[in-house]
Amino acid sequence: MPTLTIDGHTVHADHGQFLLAACRSAGIQIPTLCDHPAVEPYGGCRLCVVDVTRPEWNGWCKMVVACLFPVEDGIVVHTASTRVIEVRKVVLDLLLARCPDTPLVRDLAARHGILATSYVRNQQPTDCILCGLCTRICDRMGMSAIGSVDRGAGREIATPFREPPAACIGCLACAEICPTGFIRYESGTARRKIWDKDFDMLRCPRCGRSHITVAQADFFAGRGGVPRSYFEICDVCKRKDLAVAATRLACATETPAR
Ligand code: SF4
Ligand code: FES
Repeated sequence: MPTLTIDGHTVHADHGQFLLAACRSAGIQIPTLCDHPAVEPYGGCRLCVVDVTRPEWNGWCKMVVACLFPVEDGIVVHTASTRVIEVRKVVLDLLLARCPDTPLVRDLAARHGILATSYVRNQQPTDCILCGLCTRICDRMGMSAIGSVDRGAGREIATPFREPPAACIGCLACAEICPTGFIRYESGTARRKIWDKDFDMLRCPRCGRSHITVAQADFFAGRGGVPRSYFEICDVCKRKDLAVAATRLACATETPAR
């Protein structure tokens, strides 16, 4: 089990664990914008930078992104050194230039003492912080319907050729994971629309609730060999069925009173 020192505390970490997780398990909070337990780390926002050193390095240290740096036995970590804080401030200053009106960015920047960007303010403010959570969750779901396009200040999340994406099944995973609400959609009882693509909704035959799109049911039924009828029942009704089955099982296995 690797043992390391984080901000003066001895921490026992798991093999293969990333430094960010080790910090969190020790109760040490580090700001992040692109980290999420549902997807692999990406190292995109650079907010989780920390200093890493070793006693034998005679004071030399290297700066790493904690979300992508695997723990090593004997390392000494500083999560809030002067230069770490300065780097985080530069990152937030730049992000504030790109997203000057985004509450998440404004709040985080303000907590680091930055109330206005010192860079040129984006003339076309966006709420997309380029955290890549949407593209990673879409990849993870198996669709890869969206991606990042262009470079520099013009970089953004878009669909291929900026057209309604053929691979999208309207699951809303991208919109739900987006930390800023940048990805817009409309969802009603009969129709759903996201990325300019329209979807028919599927109603649960038990309760009548519209819970997923027809495209979602088709996609999931085609993958795991699970019958399509399984996806037609909504989660609420499935849970009710499970509760009834569990109650019946408990009654059937109860020892009869003498
Ligand atoms: S659209 Fe949302 S989730 Fe996707 S990169 Fe931008 S901020 Fe992140
Ligand atoms: S959380 Fe580590 S780079 Fe974003």
